[in-house]
Amino acid sequence: MSTEGHNSRDPRSNGLFGIYVHWPFCAAKCPYCDFNSHVHRGPFDEVAYVEAYAQELAWFARQTPGRTVQSIFFGGGTPSLMQPRSVETIINEIGKHWTIDPRAEITLEANPTSVEADRFRGYRAAGVNRVSLGVQSLREKPLAELGRRHTVDEAVAAVRLAQSIFDRTSFDLIYARPHQTLEDWQDELTEALWLAQGHLSLYQLTIEMGTRYYDMFNAGKLQMPNEDLSADFYELTQELANSAGLPAYEISNHARPGQESRHNLIYWRYGEYVGVGPGAHGRLLINNQRHATATEKMPFDWQKRVASRGHGMVTDDVLTWEEEGDELLVMGLRLREGIDPRRFSMLSGRAISEKQIDELKAIGFVETLPNGFIRVTDKGWPVLDAVVADLAA
Ligand SMILES: C[S@@+](CC[C@H](N)C(=O)[O-])C[C@H]1O[C@@H](n2cnc3c(N)ncnc32)[C@H](O)[C@@H]1O
Ligand code: SF4
Repeated sequence: MSTEGHNSRDPRSNGLFGIYVHWPFCAAKCPYCDFNSHVHRGPFDEVAYVEAYAQELAWFARQTPGRTVQSIFFGGGTPSLMQPRSVETIINEIGKHWTIDPRAEITLEANPTSVEADRFRGYRAAGVNRVSLGVQSLREKPLAELGRRHTVDEAVAAVRLAQSIFDRTSFDLIYARPHQTLEDWQDELTEALWLAQGHLSLYQLTIEMGTRYYDMFNAGKLQMPNEDLSADFYELTQELANSAGLPAYEISNHARPGQESRHNLIYWRYGEYVGVGPGAHGRLLINNQRHATATEKMPFDWQKRVASRGHGMVTDDVLTWEEEGDELLVMGLRLREGIDPRRFSMLSGRAISEKQIDELKAIGFVETLPNGFIRVTDKGWPVLDAVVADLAA
């Protein structure tokens, strides 16, 4: 990824700059999902809704002039419910305010139903060059239990179609599900690794507050794997993905070398990004300070806010140096490449405690690489949160 160019003027910048576009609508709410997604029934004026993105982009562009956009990510919700011309309008608006790097990665998250697959060519014509599909499972029963509205055949057909249209594709699977055995997962993941090309996201099911699964779990109606079984699931996943040539470059993300998601790397390498649309988060560098921004979550309240103020922001916090250091660790230690302790010192104004590093090294949880980066080892990954807390202390 290019780190040269306009984006390196701010001393707190590492040259990375991307734009996240949140599309908040879904055809149905999946019982495990706590993303900012909403089912809207009734009339909807998509052209007017897209106009709000144009306005909000113009507002954020005034705060971040002169940047070169290395990545655009349409996430959701379900961006594959968008008309291709809406996607095109948003990309064009971005190009009016910033320079889009000719090699920019432009990703759209898609649900793998046949209706959405019909739009893939339109997205490609609009400028999208990478698609990430929410397959979730290659087995019918779990798909139904997860509340998905597609069959296995439909999902596989959508992946194959996407692979024939886009140079770069990825898909998501959720594992360590209720009733799933290690043998089941071994078979399912093996099939997924045959199907995958450059990139695969493998998430362990988490029970999130406010979801239907949360209520079911608390009522004793969801049998989740215990800690030992979860660790076995994780280990098996690493083994199979490694032997298929798709090692993890982040806790849940696997890629052939060079096929990593550049957009997500902007977050994990703690770069700069604008977040537009309802409930989108951003990190902006303004006058040598890092701003943490968040917009109104409710889709139509966000639209009204943008119409009256030019943006839908409800949070704009200037981070302290300490908070920046903490965020750098939380994001960067998820990566296989680890973090640069010199950048930590530069941002936070203090060094990571040598004593903490030595203690974690002694128990085999972290290591220092020849380039000076510190990373969490295979042994440390299952207890990543505790390792991060120790290093931040
Ligand atoms: C925001 S969703 C968007 C994808 C798209 N709407 C779809 O469902 O296909 C991104 C991904 O997060 C993962 N995800 C969401 N909730 C999860 C949970 N509770 N546990 C594990 N993975 C989850 C799913 O794999 C999903 O594809
Ligand atoms: S998993 Fe995807 S389709 Fe399901 S509710 Fe969440 S964002 Fe919507």
